[in-house]
Amino acid sequence: MIRATHTPALFEAAVQETVDLLTRGEVVAIPTETVYGLAANAFDEAAVARIYEIKGRPASNPIIVHAVSSALVRKCVDEWPSQAQLLATAFWPGPLTLVLPKSDCIPSIVTAGGPTVGVRWPSHPFISAVIQRCGFPLAAPSANPANALSPTSAEHVQASLGSRVPLIVDGGQCQVGIESTVIDVSGPAPQLLRPGMIHIESLEAVLQTPVRTKGHNEGDAGLPKRSPGQLLKHYAPKARLLITDWRDDADLEQQLTHWGESKDTTHLIVYSKMSSLFPAHRISVIPHDPEAFARALYAELHRCDTAGAKCIVMENVPATPEWMGIRDRLRRGSSS
Ligand code: TXA
Ligand code: MG
Repeated sequence: MIRATHTPALFEAAVQETVDLLTRGEVVAIPTETVYGLAANAFDEAAVARIYEIKGRPASNPIIVHAVSSALVRKCVDEWPSQAQLLATAFWPGPLTLVLPKSDCIPSIVTAGGPTVGVRWPSHPFISAVIQRCGFPLAAPSANPANALSPTSAEHVQASLGSRVPLIVDGGQCQVGIESTVIDVSGPAPQLLRPGMIHIESLEAVLQTPVRTKGHNEGDAGLPKRSPGQLLKHYAPKARLLITDWRDDADLEQQLTHWGESKDTTHLIVYSKMSSLFPAHRISVIPHDPEAFARALYAELHRCDTAGAKCIVMENVPATPEWMGIRDRLRRGSSS
């Protein structure tokens, strides 16, 4: 069941229906500015258990909690260090998740048994209105089956989880388009756990201190998994995703042969290059600025999957800080 929100009356009705369901312990798919989320009352252990069940999410992967007031944020965490305050002032409401020591209000199922909780104050008007009226925070991972592509429209949710949730709220296409930046500020030195559109240089400028990156260490021998969602092979389309550069059509054709892919079942996603190897309906051109690129990225990957692509070739993106969140998702989506 998809509910529209594009008039004030529809918006109000959808908020009320969502609040009623959430209050009864149900799970609802709702829009946020990053990607669509699968939301439940973060204080309700049984409701959160339903999220894991619906997504097929491993119990070891913690869920982000969404709150929309300082009071509600503070209720979820045990400490509020000055670094958290600096980041919250600069970037909230928005696509940034802060990992902090959890409070006793947060059941351990939300944090996968761990001592910390990821908290985010989202900016999308729909989820904001819902949380305000509920009075409790919402645990919400992206509204996709575990390891699949995140949804950036209600139709994406409908296609994958439509039969498993009582309600999907349509809040339009997500404005940010990739998942929030996740930074751990629970220890003495801030650590970036997942890059996003708020990039490391912005975080460092606000904190006035270097932010450690994980060196994408997941799988590194001996290191504990700090953020289980950082596992490779996440954020992946069904088709094989190949990220590359090419000089000309001959070069691209040679690369396809090398990968064992046929150009007849391959889709191309580009922002600056063109190729006459493919018919127009199997080429997507997306804008070449990182914000617009991120907004379009998952929709294009979903579209290729729906069209039955076996392989997606995507033009490599720059290695500058503004592109790091996008590069991270492409790297994961293309790992095998
Ligand atoms: O933009 C977003 O963050 C979206 C929207 C719905 O808010 N949510 C989202 O949730 O992407 P999810 O569950 O798909 O990804 C959450 C990421 C995972 O990589 C998870 O491991 C990490 O955040 N995470 C959550 N809580 C954590 C914690 N306490 N410590 C470390 N990592 C945590
Ligand atoms: Mg996810």
